[in-house]
Amino acid sequence: MRPDVAIHLEQWFLNYVRPFINGDAESEVLRIKLEHSRRVAEDMTGIARDLGLAEEAIHTARILGWLHDIGRFPQYARYRTLRDDRSVNHGQTGLQILDSAGVLVICEPADRKIILAGIGCHNRRTVPDAMDADVRRFVLMIRDVDKLDIMQTLYQAWKNDEFRRHPELILGIDLEGGVNPQVLADIRARRPVAYANIRSLADFFITQVSWIYDLNFRPSYQRLAQRRLLEQAAEALPQEPSVQAEVAAAVQHVRARL
Ligand SMILES: [Fe+2]
Repeated sequence: MRPDVAIHLEQWFLNYVRPFINGDAESEVLRIKLEHSRRVAEDMTGIARDLGLAEEAIHTARILGWLHDIGRFPQYARYRTLRDDRSVNHGQTGLQILDSAGVLVICEPADRKIILAGIGCHNRRTVPDAMDADVRRFVLMIRDVDKLDIMQTLYQAWKNDEFRRHPELILGIDLEGGVNPQVLADIRARRPVAYANIRSLADFFITQVSWIYDLNFRPSYQRLAQRRLLEQAAEALPQEPSVQAEVAAAVQHVRARL
């Protein structure tokens, strides 16, 4: 993507989201989502660089970072929830917004394909098999970067006790309570955790630990390690041996990929 196209899309996105963030308490969740988008755009840039991508591909990566969660804004404004299962699939909503705005006409077709696939697949449990290798690379990048930022943000929110103020940030689940054995069974089997089984905050943090088996690039593992994201999740989890054993296994898995 040419740099002027990237600047245009970034400005368009910031203008699009501005009316959703008006400073009242209700729009605080979307202000947090905007900051998430900003950090994801930065990390997409960094990882694209570390992977040795060309300058134009780095711009594409950055714009995918900015745009990936655009569906969150109308979703939350309309339904007052971030739960897709109780409202809309926010990836698909993002695609509809871009389609009706027609803003991607200024991109090359190849970039348009990447942005649309990235938004549509960033929140799927798995990536569809049929996809060009080049498109797939960006889809995997956005999935990695999104996970890294969610891990960081949720730990910080837990540390600062923000969940009580914004229960929506963790999709309104039980703040107390231990790890659901079904979630642990998913992690042991190295399968994606079924979201229906996530009932407590502990389930949420152990699910994040399981995400490390679904990272795709060395620069992602490096960021995870530098930011001590697993150690932070471990701090928020119950000290039970069965839970901490999964953390230890995850730490080993990451070490082997640095
Ligand atoms: Fe998302």
